[in-house]
Amino acid sequence: MSQKSEKQGNDGFKTRWGFIFAAMGSAIGLGNIWKYPYVAYESGGGSFLIPYLVAILVAGLPILILEFNIGSKFKSGSAPAAFKALSPKLEFIGWFQTMIAFIVPIYYSAVIAWVVYYLGASFTQAWGSDTATYFYSEVLTLGDAPTGPFSFGGFNLPLAGLITVVWIGCAITIYAGVQKGIERVNKFLIPSLLIMFAVVVIYSVTLDGATTGLQRFFAPQWDTISDGKIWVAAFAQVFFSTSICSGIMITYASYSPKKFDNNSNAIITGLGNSSVELAAGIGVFAALGFLATQSGVGVDDVAAGGPGLVFQIYPSILNELPAGIGTVVGVVFYLSLLFAGFSSLISLIEVVVAAVKIKFGVSRRKAAIVMCVIGYILSLLIVTNAGLYLLDVIDYFSNKIMWVISGIFEIVAVVAICVTAGATASLLGYGNQYTAIKISPKLLLGLLIIAGALLGYTFVQELIIAIKVPYEGYNNWFLIFWGWSIIAISFIAAIVLSIIKPKKEMS
Ligand code: PHE
Repeated sequence: MSQKSEKQGNDGFKTRWGFIFAAMGSAIGLGNIWKYPYVAYESGGGSFLIPYLVAILVAGLPILILEFNIGSKFKSGSAPAAFKALSPKLEFIGWFQTMIAFIVPIYYSAVIAWVVYYLGASFTQAWGSDTATYFYSEVLTLGDAPTGPFSFGGFNLPLAGLITVVWIGCAITIYAGVQKGIERVNKFLIPSLLIMFAVVVIYSVTLDGATTGLQRFFAPQWDTISDGKIWVAAFAQVFFSTSICSGIMITYASYSPKKFDNNSNAIITGLGNSSVELAAGIGVFAALGFLATQSGVGVDDVAAGGPGLVFQIYPSILNELPAGIGTVVGVVFYLSLLFAGFSSLISLIEVVVAAVKIKFGVSRRKAAIVMCVIGYILSLLIVTNAGLYLLDVIDYFSNKIMWVISGIFEIVAVVAICVTAGATASLLGYGNQYTAIKISPKLLLGLLIIAGALLGYTFVQELIIAIKVPYEGYNNWFLIFWGWSIIAISFIAAIVLSIIKPKKEMS
């Protein structure tokens, strides 16, 4: 393998749209489709739009611009190296974010395996009429709620086979490099995804009963707005969904072409992602309205989030459609989920591979193989009979806690540097050089301060709840092992990794 082709700068995105599709590919993921509709519904419906829009405006877009700036200014090639370039003391933040990007794929890859399973099943609607039993008992072979940290039950071979394929696909893409792998794959996946998804959403709103679902989705519950939990939910959703504060946007932007229009690229990526999310909410609730009407029940009786929505309720919706149409819509829906999930998965792994490659002075190819094998082995935990429980707990702790901590770290660090070192113009205004949309660095700084304060305040509330009440009533040791200790290990790993001296810089 030639070392030369590994050098920084030789393997970056070739075109602006190559970059934008990759950034959108990362942002648009399972979170848009299975998290957003239910989070919005559960967190106040129409009134959730307020915390959600606030979170996009004060945190989503400013942080996206900031991360594009950090990435393209330093061109460090990885999140830890970029934070180190900001200030040597900050490298651990990059590693903490890399830990998030390492942990999430453990379950994210499993969900993609389920999606592939359902893609196959949708050709014949193999789930039958009892979609719940099919999903939980036949596909997942889900066991009883865990009674201890290691009560995994048996191993699910078909899913293990599929998850192997998912990881091989991921490894090949990352191995091939930024231009030949990530850029090429996203240039195909994202436009196809957008078209397919648009077809599904437009079709859904034409269904009988769609308006009932939409009314329910948009019905405001104003009394929820003062509840801190709603705000944490909005910020956590925006962070997860926009892929910020997890090292991705910094890593991708460090591969960006020269003279990079950060501001408009960030706005296209951020708004593109939110539009897909809102469209998902509309499509999903229109379809739920249809299902409720067909079954003669209320929308509240059929609404669900997470895996239940995509793998249990959605098949019931497909069952209600005219035979041929149900098959086509099902195939298109699961194919778009697959594309959305896969493009996000590769972005997560890329963060880890880039960080390892630079820190330990190994080639991209070696780092890709080693990290994909480790990720793959850990992800096998999720194809045991306790997989869904593990997923639920790891997702909660990584999304609602680690991600928010990472956001707070990043904001505090950047604000401190801007204020104490007078770096506001050079850091937050960096993107103003080559842009059609100039944004005042002071305004961005102000927004970041507001975002930091809101996050800090709401985070404390979430943390108190998480400590007081065992999440979803899970066994305490299970939560300690798969939740709290993962956070603790990530902290320690981030600090240790930032202290270790790099082997030799590849650039
Ligand atoms: N944004 C992705 C989603 O909505 C998840 C993700 C987060 C992917 C961070 C990459 C990095 O599903």
